Amino acid sequence: MQKIAIASDHGGIELKEDIKIFLKEKGFDVLDMGTNGNESVDYPDYGVPLSEKVSQAKLEKGILICGTGIGMSIVANKFPNVRAALVSDVYSARMAKEHNDANILVIGGRVAGKGLAREMVRAWLEAKFEGGRHQKRLDKIKEIEKGMKR
Ligand code: RB5
Repeated sequence: MQKIAIASDHGGIELKEDIKIFLKEKGFDVLDMGTNGNESVDYPDYGVPLSEKVSQAKLEKGILICGTGIGMSIVANKFPNVRAALVSDVYSARMAKEHNDANILVIGGRVAGKGLAREMVRAWLEAKFEGGRHQKRLDKIKEIEKGMKR
């Protein structure tokens, strides 16, 4: 069973719960990394643990949700090996995998409705990284992470 992690702050919890149902229906083993209530929390407290797992290859992929998705995407992209894509349309969600090999999908819980969010998750999960010229570009990003290029 393919494993996937999901985390949100209070701005994304409602969508997180719905996406969890969707992922389970699709046969995923879902690791819920919080938050688990409606009280106001700080998105880095939930974005960091998930991003760390992906960064360290303890998990292949994850989904992060906050109100806009902006905070979570800023957090996630601080981590080496993480390619987090904030999406609000299905085309970008598919491209996030095909061209960018995004290993974290970020959604704004106050931006995207549940139907759109499910379709974006589906598009990202079903897409395949195309490699080739896109791999060359990811290699250049890896060089930035290594501190070899400024
Ligand atoms: C929380 O109110 C909100 O700022 C947060 O969910 C997110 O949108 C930040 O980027």
